[in-house]
Amino acid sequence: MRYQKSSAEPSQNSLHRYYHANGASTSSTTSKKDKAPYALVTGSTGGIGEEWVHQLAALGFNVIAQGRNESKLQLVRSAVLARYPAVDVRLLVTEATIWPNEPLVTGLTALVEDDPSVRLTIVINNLGTVSTGFPMLEEESSESVAAVITSNAIFPAEIARICLPALKRHQPSLLCTVTSLGAWNPPPYLSPYAGTKGFDVAFSRSLWNEMAIERQDVDVVCLAPGQVVSGMHKYPPTLMAPLASVWTESAVAALRSTWWRPRPPPVVIPYRWHYWGQMLGQWSPSWLSDTVARKIAVQLKADYWEQAERETVDKKLL
Ligand SMILES: NC(=O)c1ccc[n+]([C@@H]2O[C@H](COP(=O)([O-])OP(=O)(O)OC[C@H]3O[C@@H](n4cnc5c(N)ncnc54)[C@H](OP(=O)(O)O)[C@@H]3O)[C@@H](O)[C@H]2O)c1
Repeated sequence: MRYQKSSAEPSQNSLHRYYHANGASTSSTTSKKDKAPYALVTGSTGGIGEEWVHQLAALGFNVIAQGRNESKLQLVRSAVLARYPAVDVRLLVTEATIWPNEPLVTGLTALVEDDPSVRLTIVINNLGTVSTGFPMLEEESSESVAAVITSNAIFPAEIARICLPALKRHQPSLLCTVTSLGAWNPPPYLSPYAGTKGFDVAFSRSLWNEMAIERQDVDVVCLAPGQVVSGMHKYPPTLMAPLASVWTESAVAALRSTWWRPRPPPVVIPYRWHYWGQMLGQWSPSWLSDTVARKIAVQLKADYWEQAERETVDKKLL
C-alpha cells in the first residue's frame, strides 16, 4: 500500500491541474464564472463536505453541491456566494440511502451531460453515513444496514459511473472518494460502515489502474481521514481529531501536483497526524492495533450514550 503524506500548505493554485477552460469559450467577453470548471461535492450541507464547497469556491471553481435537504443546500449556496460572488453554485437534491435512485441519475445527468456550460473537472465523493449509537450488528434493522451500504458504496459508485464520461472529456480531472482509516483498522460496532470504507479503497484503486490502462488523464484518489470534528464526530478538536476546515485544507494541499509528482497516488492520508498514527498502527502487532481500535470504540460508544442520556434529562427539565 502506498500512502502520500501531506507536507505542503494549501496555496491558491493547489488544484491548478484541474482548473482549465477545456472546451469553454475564452473570448474576452466570457466572464470568469463562464470559463471556470465545475466541482461536484456530495454531502455538502455539513461537516467535511461543506468545507470542500467553500475551499473549492475559494480556488475559483464553480460548484455543484449535493444534499438531501433543499433548504440546507440553499443556505450553503447563500453562504458561498456571500464570500465568493464570482462563482456559480448549482444544487443537486437527492437522497443517498435509496436504491434505485432515479433523482440522482436524472438530476446528475442533466447537469454534467446535458448542460454544455457545466465542464466538470473535479468530483469529491464525500458523503458517508453511519448507524447512530454504535449498535451491535444484530440490533440493527435491515433498513439501517442497507442505508449505510447504499450511501457509502452504491451512491459513490453511481456518482463515479455517471460522472466519468464528463471527467474524461474534461481531463485532466479528479475523482476523489473519502474513505476512513477504519478501513484498515475496523472498529467494533461499526461493521457495515467499516466494510463500505474498505469498498471505497478497493473501488478507487481499481479505477486508478483502469485510468492508467485506458490512458485517461483522470486522477482517482481515495482520501483517508481519521477522526475529524463534524456531524459524525461531535467533539472538541484535538491534534488527532482536527476541525473539518483543517482536514480539508490538508486534503487540498495533498492533491497539489508538482514537477516530481504530477499525479496523486491512489490512496492519500492528507492530515499528517492521521498519517503518523496510521504508520504506527501498521507497524504495530495486530493484537496492539486491535486493542486500540476496541478501546476507542468502547469509549466513543460510552460517550455517545452518556451524551444522549444528558440530552433526554435536559429535555424533560425544559
Ligand atoms: N468525521 C469523521 O470523524 C470521519 C472519520 C473518517 C471518515 N469520515 C468520512 O468523511 C466523510 C464526511 O463525513 P463527515 O464527518 O463530514 O460527516 P457528516 O458531518 O455527518 O456529514 C454531513 C453531510 O452528510 C449528509 N448526511 C448525513 N446523513 C445522511 C443520510 N442518512 N442520508 C443522506 N445524507 C446524509 C448530511 O446531510 P444533512 O445536512 O441533510 O443531514 C451532510 O450533507 C464521510 O465519507 C465519512 O465516512 C469522517
